[in-house]
Amino acid sequence: MSGKDEYYNKAKQQGYRARSAYKLQQLDETAGLLGEGRTAVDLGAAPGGWLQVAAERVGERGRVVGVDRQSVEPLADPAPPVEYVRGDITDADTVRQIRETVDGEADVVLSDMAPNMTGEYDLDHARSVHLARQALSVAEELLGPGGDLAVKVFDGRDLEALQADMEEGFDYVRQVRPEASRDASSELYLVAKHRLTAPVRTGDRLTVEVVDEGEDGDGVAKVEGFTLFVPGVDPGETVEVAVTEIKPRYGFAECVD
Ligand SMILES: C[S@@+](CC[C@H](N)C(=O)[O-])C[C@H]1O[C@@H](n2cnc3c(N)ncnc32)[C@H](O)[C@@H]1O
Repeated sequence: MSGKDEYYNKAKQQGYRARSAYKLQQLDETAGLLGEGRTAVDLGAAPGGWLQVAAERVGERGRVVGVDRQSVEPLADPAPPVEYVRGDITDADTVRQIRETVDGEADVVLSDMAPNMTGEYDLDHARSVHLARQALSVAEELLGPGGDLAVKVFDGRDLEALQADMEEGFDYVRQVRPEASRDASSELYLVAKHRLTAPVRTGDRLTVEVVDEGEDGDGVAKVEGFTLFVPGVDPGETVEVAVTEIKPRYGFAECVD
């Protein structure tokens, strides 16, 4: 039985609207995207397979917002209730509506958006990268510190540059090819984990004032309200440091001469 038949039949039997539901399940199992209570934004949501999986996995305390330029038949009795935004993601008004609907920070942005296929490989690739960049921009606007992004893209020459741009704003980015993707497909998902909102990046050098002592005895410095732990220094000292590691909510730095 081909991969297509297997997942198509399974979706029919299990009541999923699209075989792509299994791709999201596999992405979640690989990368941990849909924990209970999370707020998820699903871009390119029609007909709703990913919405079904997202709603099941974030549970009653979570929220799901589905966005598509096509209408999505509302899910029957979803828990949690799923909210819908109809519009084209390249349109600023759609992004405004998403922002208003989420009304705060999202924990995960998902994009399964795909361009209308022309069959011309380079063009389809370029259009998919364009959609992925739109998803990245929505994610940069909506995700709180530590938030995650998973975005579909067709493999091709601009993939590396896209991945490098995503790496700027997240702890790490990896390429995932779910088993449920069709064998011959060039699609893959870039999964970006732990959005970084720090004003500094690993490798930056700066002068900081140590303002406090942390629980483990490290000096604590603040950069625009962001905490940097610096070992071997005391409160009151002003030191030049190099940033060694950035976490979503704090970072580490070492003194340099
Ligand atoms: C592969 S389907 C998504 C399937 C969905 N994840 C599911 O499980 O049911 C891709 C969707 O992306 C949507 N899409 C493509 N370009 C878009 C855009 N510019 N704005 C909004 N939606 C878009 C299409 O309308 C289509 O419904």
